[in-house]
Amino acid sequence: MKNEKLIVSILDFGAIGAERGLITICEGEQDIPFIPKRVFYIYKSAKGVIRGCHANRITDFVLINVSGKSKVKIMDGRGNEIVYSLNRPNTGIYIPHMVWKEMYDFTDDSVLLCLASEHYNPDEYIRDYNAFLSEVENEEACWGGGKQKKDNLD
Ligand code: TYD
Repeated sequence: MKNEKLIVSILDFGAIGAERGLITICEGEQDIPFIPKRVFYIYKSAKGVIRGCHANRITDFVLINVSGKSKVKIMDGRGNEIVYSLNRPNTGIYIPHMVWKEMYDFTDDSVLLCLASEHYNPDEYIRDYNAFLSEVENEEACWGGGKQKKDNLD
């Protein structure tokens, strides 16, 4: 169960409508794995800017480019990394806690909506990559090996 929750995944919310335009719906604990306690959005980031560059000890996120495009690189601290293109308002990427994330390649019209499972607490952010690697290593030791979690990014 815990392992299931940790899997990075693409969420397809679909869209309803036609002549009057479209509506996309994200219901907490239905379309996304948690009920958001916090919503924020990132916009007007220039093409060369890299945002994020952190892991969260407890917060899970869903990222949706409701307008424009960006990319998110996700690293598990065990040598696995994957890049997702966020380019559709009806698709989100679920990013569990304890993975490193970097957002970049923002188009001028990019509005990156972020749904968070927890309120903001700067203390649960790991902003130093080497510190992140150390915490992953310690966690792995506690779990008695990271085999299962290694498969999460597949
Ligand atoms: P930061 O997490 O560095 O943004 P990004 O990951 O997009 O690069 O946050 C930028 C600033 O905003 C920083 O001063 C912390 C503040 N902040 C909040 O106060 N609450 C929040 O929920 C978030 C995400 C950021």
